[in-house]
Amino acid sequence: MRIALFGPPGAGKGTQAKILNEHFGLDTISTGNLIRTAIREGSDLGDRVKSFVHMGNLVPDELVRDLANESIAKHKFDRFILDGYPRTVTQAHWVQEFLAAYKAPLDAVISLSLPDSVIVDRLSKRRIHKLTCESYHLEYHPPPADVDPTMIIRRKDDAPEAVRSRIETYREQTHPVEEFFRREGILIEVSGVGSVQDIGNRVLKQVEQFAELAIA
Ligand code: AP5
Ligand code: MG
Repeated sequence: MRIALFGPPGAGKGTQAKILNEHFGLDTISTGNLIRTAIREGSDLGDRVKSFVHMGNLVPDELVRDLANESIAKHKFDRFILDGYPRTVTQAHWVQEFLAAYKAPLDAVISLSLPDSVIVDRLSKRRIHKLTCESYHLEYHPPPADVDPTMIIRRKDDAPEAVRSRIETYREQTHPVEEFFRREGILIEVSGVGSVQDIGNRVLKQVEQFAELAIA
């Protein structure tokens, strides 16, 4: 089973990927997490992409493609969830061609939609674990008491200015990807408004049909 989770910043892609992982054992390939890890480790790639990410802009397509392809290959082209990739029409063409070459097409692209006001609320109160990238929300999903508080940080691109820029970037460069996958016939739209569990149930209901096909 090969799924992509699509949606604006703060749509809950990472949160829903975790629920899919718990239910179906699918691994998450998050280009955002791969990029943040490269920045934290101070690799060449990390240094090259840092300013794009912190300002809320997209990283150049070629750099993200290499990271994503490497990770997809590591997962042997199956049982993964793409979180935040592809997010330009160019990336969408590339991933389709790459997976087709290995006879491993995406089963579905699940698009989570929600209004900007909800995005801003979620991102202003998000905190993450510096090392594990685990995501928390100060109100709905606070960090557990046994987690070292010095490890809990705010993402640089969750600053209000960067969030505005990410929403703008999403509208201009990423939203057209939805139409691309609609035309490919694999887009599934799910409302991203409501509790984590309610959205999770909607997503699971959609993915279950692919799980059944995979078993059959
Ligand atoms: P990335 O890390 O992918 O960021 P994003 O797409 O902006 O999305 P987020 O991770 O902010 O949100 P999410 O949808 O995962 O929501 P989450 O589950 O955390 O990318 C970061 C940057 O890397 C990009 O800006 C770009 O620079 C670069 N990049 C990455 N991929 C790239 C690519 N393909 N091409 C080019 N550049 C790329 O939830 C958000 C918060 O809300 C959390 O606190 C969570 O606990 C909470 N929450 C979730 N669901 C609910 C709910 N139902 N109710 C209440 N709270 C909720
Ligand atoms: Mg995320």
